[in-house]
Amino acid sequence: MVIFSHANWRKPTIRTLDRPSIFLAGALSALLILWTFFFFSTLENPYKPDTCKCNQPDPAFNLQFDPPVSTFYDDPYFGYTVDKTITNWDQKRRTWLKLHPSFEPKSHDRVLIVTGSRSTPCKSPTGDHFLLRFYRNKVDYCRIHDYDIFYNNVLLDPKMPSCWAKIPTVRAAMVAHPEAEWIWWLDEDAAFTDMEFKIPFHRYKDYNFIVHGWPKEVYEKKSWLGLNAGSFLIRNCQWSLDFLDKWADMGPRSSNFDKWARVLLDEFKHESDDQTALGYLLLKEHQQWFGKKMLIETGYYLEGYWVAIVDTLNNITERYLEIETTAGMLRRRHAEKVSERYGVLREPSLKDAGNEFGSWRRPFVTHFAGCQPCNGKHNPLFTGKGCRNAMNMALNFADNQVLRNYGFVHRNLSDPSVVSPLPFDYPA
Ligand SMILES: *[C@@H]1O[C@H](CO)[C@@H](O)[C@H](O)[C@H]1NC(C)=O
Ligand SMILES: *[C@@H]1O[C@H](CO)[C@@H](O)[C@H](O)[C@H]1NC(C)=O
Repeated sequence: MVIFSHANWRKPTIRTLDRPSIFLAGALSALLILWTFFFFSTLENPYKPDTCKCNQPDPAFNLQFDPPVSTFYDDPYFGYTVDKTITNWDQKRRTWLKLHPSFEPKSHDRVLIVTGSRSTPCKSPTGDHFLLRFYRNKVDYCRIHDYDIFYNNVLLDPKMPSCWAKIPTVRAAMVAHPEAEWIWWLDEDAAFTDMEFKIPFHRYKDYNFIVHGWPKEVYEKKSWLGLNAGSFLIRNCQWSLDFLDKWADMGPRSSNFDKWARVLLDEFKHESDDQTALGYLLLKEHQQWFGKKMLIETGYYLEGYWVAIVDTLNNITERYLEIETTAGMLRRRHAEKVSERYGVLREPSLKDAGNEFGSWRRPFVTHFAGCQPCNGKHNPLFTGKGCRNAMNMALNFADNQVLRNYGFVHRNLSDPSVVSPLPFDYPA
């Protein structure tokens, strides 16, 4: 859809006119409106910057427009699979964007969330139910923040199963979405528990890869648990494709897999998996040009471990209600589409909330690492019931932030099926 907004267009001003001429003027302006509408809706030549208002903040994408000029998509040697090296991607992406100017606005921070799970039913009887709720939670966040999302549930590269499957998926997503600047991988068992928080992309100008962790644990203690590969941001650029190649080279499809497995065991005292490999890349490339593009985020829960989070959710709910009791604006009912605005308005009240461990700010992403909701083979440290209760709490905690825009609330975070309507001006 083309939204018509033209700066030079003015409603004709009609002063002292008699009835027939008002009619005539009306008919003429109707014609003018029709003409301009057709003129601008058929005007699709991207090479006329004076007529194309493509740099105006117009979020509408023209989904019908794909000019016949050939791009990388038309190159028979170009491929989506990990074995087909991609070169010159930045240029290819830029050219594509030039040919599709309606995607130009916001192209510096457009986000595609990529997540996924197996193609077969879950072994745990509640597994598919939880995966659906985790997915719904991500869709909720995307709807509120205008992000796109891709849920992949097929193995794109049979030689890269389980935890390695994210690499070919992220790579294919980059190629499928040249309009997206960032790909955000999220594991299927991670949930947004702050629907208002937005990634501070302005801080990442100099970085291409961001993962949550503790730098000291990675760089000094060489612990594979110093970071978590269940949530990471990766810029859609050539650097990232090269990075994914390096990462994939440590995985099971590579002829170097066994060699890397020994290196990883030696350095990180842990078996080879995507996370250990990522830790190794961070450690080894730390001081080099390549590694300088990688950041371990410590400022907020880009990924937060559920064990440290779930018990705090009830208290956090109380603190937020206290804030809303005194701040009338935050209680105001509003359309879901404008809810980002209310996140910004809440920010001053959260300045003492802290971040991450010990904070009473809503944790951004809660990851149920070790719970394995789909196959049910949870870490022996936990019980299946403990995991399910915790997932329920976190998902309902998040759901409350969404349902509020629909006028309802789960009063009891442990009970997903019961909601009550919210009174006007709650919680005044
Ligand atoms: C929640 O708040 C209460 C009362 O302030 C406090 O006693 C309790 O330790 C808090 N719980 C957690 C998990 O922080
Ligand atoms: C909350 O819901 C759970 C699960 O249905 C239930 O066991 C618990 O008693 C409820 N708590 C309260 C305070 O109603």
